Amino acid sequence: MTLQSSSRDSLKKSTEAVHEEHDAKHYGAVKMPIYQNSLFTYSSYKQFISAMGGQPDTYIYSRVNNPTVNVLEQMLAKLEGGEQARCFTSGMAAISTAILSTVKTGDHVICIDHAYSPAKHFLNSYLKRFEIENTFVSGTSITDIELAIRENTSLLYMETPTSYFHELQDLQACASLAKRAGIITIVDNTWATPMFQNPLKYGIDMVVHSTTKYISGHSDALGGAVIGSKEMIQKLEYTSLGSIMTPQIADLTMRGVRTLPVRMKTHQDTANKLAHFLQSVPHVRTVYYPGLPSHPQHELALRQMQGFSSLVSFETDLSIDLMQEWADSLRLFRIGVSWGGYESLVTVLSMPESSGSLVRLYLGLEDPEDIISDLTTAFNKLILRDR
Ligand SMILES: Cc1ncc(COP(=O)(O)O)c(C=O)c1O
Repeated sequence: MTLQSSSRDSLKKSTEAVHEEHDAKHYGAVKMPIYQNSLFTYSSYKQFISAMGGQPDTYIYSRVNNPTVNVLEQMLAKLEGGEQARCFTSGMAAISTAILSTVKTGDHVICIDHAYSPAKHFLNSYLKRFEIENTFVSGTSITDIELAIRENTSLLYMETPTSYFHELQDLQACASLAKRAGIITIVDNTWATPMFQNPLKYGIDMVVHSTTKYISGHSDALGGAVIGSKEMIQKLEYTSLGSIMTPQIADLTMRGVRTLPVRMKTHQDTANKLAHFLQSVPHVRTVYYPGLPSHPQHELALRQMQGFSSLVSFETDLSIDLMQEWADSLRLFRIGVSWGGYESLVTVLSMPESSGSLVRLYLGLEDPEDIISDLTTAFNKLILRDR
């Protein structure tokens, strides 16, 4: 009798995240070294010409290709289940390069209305210069998306879940609708990370990430990635747009990837505890978190996601001024817009239509009991003041 072993093809994501295939060429260095050089030189013209001709495993110039960046790209492609990835200087560089590869003058783009606002701005202002029109739709209804399709629609741009109200798009339904209509699909998967959602497996054409967030994970490395089939990635105009990731940032990002699986488990556990806790707090009208059974798209979330990260929002019946004071009184939360690092963050927005406020918490890696205690102290101050 022999013991069953799993093949290399069926490794779990947490194993893939800590295995890079580079050892043979780098003297057994445990991690991929940083190739901190802008160019690669050759001692004979014959070798140089063969490198310029695209000979595999040869490099010319780091704005085009760099071994350290390439290893990160291979790791991300594997984790997302894509054939190839390209890494960029920021999430926005990844997003704008991916969008530009799918549109031409006279086209029309459908985008969900709660997508990351600079991505919407890119569609709404920059692309308008090239007579590329757009329609913004809620994204929670496939019918709305279908109704927005025109003869000249070339791209459906999505972000699921969205980062303030955590709304979802049905990936399978959107991919098959778009395929029938000959439309390319892009999904921003930054919220869920490759650990908790893999849009390509539902037929989505390209996934974009701000690696600045959970993937690098330490609030010290701006970056982005586009992942898809070889055909899609080779169409990206990255060399002339010139926003390729640098080797040092690739190294920091790779370090983040290695601990991504364990960090995401902790983020998920903390967010789950916090979302349930917030439901019991006076003045909290609604808690927005797709991991909660009360979320209107919870069933869809269970169908297309393998877990939930740690952005949790809640609506209160209190004014933005009061909730900003509440945010000031928190000890463990810093006030700031980004997320995905070790530190918890808070932002407060107004909800003019309901005269209340929306609070978004990003839950870092602190102990959940300490976070709950910090929030409780701040809520108690508010409640006492309200009497
Ligand atoms: C959902 C989402 N996508 C993309 C981006 C852009 O990423 P970057 O800041 O790395 O350009 C952000 C940034 O906050 C984001 O929240």
